[in-house]
Amino acid sequence: MKKIAVYPGSFDPVTFGHLDIAARAAALFDEIHIVVVHNPNKKPFFSSEQRVSLIQASFTEAARFGKAFPTSTNVIVATLDQGLLVDYCRKVGASVLIKGVRNNADLEYELPMARVNRDLAAVETIFMPADPGQGFVSSSLVKQVAELGGSVDNYVPAAVVKALKASIQQAKG
Ligand code: PNS
Repeated sequence: MKKIAVYPGSFDPVTFGHLDIAARAAALFDEIHIVVVHNPNKKPFFSSEQRVSLIQASFTEAARFGKAFPTSTNVIVATLDQGLLVDYCRKVGASVLIKGVRNNADLEYELPMARVNRDLAAVETIFMPADPGQGFVSSSLVKQVAELGGSVDNYVPAAVVKALKASIQQAKG
């Protein structure tokens, strides 16, 4: 039987930290689904379609930074705009969720969700420690730095840098 895992998140936008977790998870499973989930508590910067394209555009780039995805693994990028994550897991036959953890705050935020998902549908969550080199990077910090004119080249793939610049430029009119 295929071992399938789901790696969910807002990915607004995807960072090298996310790609590192995704690549490491891909090495452990036959198939992984990177799922761009609508989080009602966050106002998105990029649409879910843009976020999916940016993840897809980042695969080849990520290889340059040693974040290559194993070719043996099937990597699917999808969206979930409504409904429960565990229903998505059921639909695709996944029994494991992957979450990256940078610090205690992440763990505190993630633990209740992990417990609920296990309670609802026996879906287990595997926490992966963030790479120390990327441990301080978050999508919100990246957006803030980019909006204030700083360089985010070390934190996100070139496709994301380009998309951020374009959106910020467009917003300025
Ligand atoms: O990157 P984020 O925004 O911290 O990711 C949180 C996310 C989207 C994974 C979480 O909010 C989620 O799982 N939402 C789906 C709805 C759901 O299943 N909720 C109940 C269990 S947490």
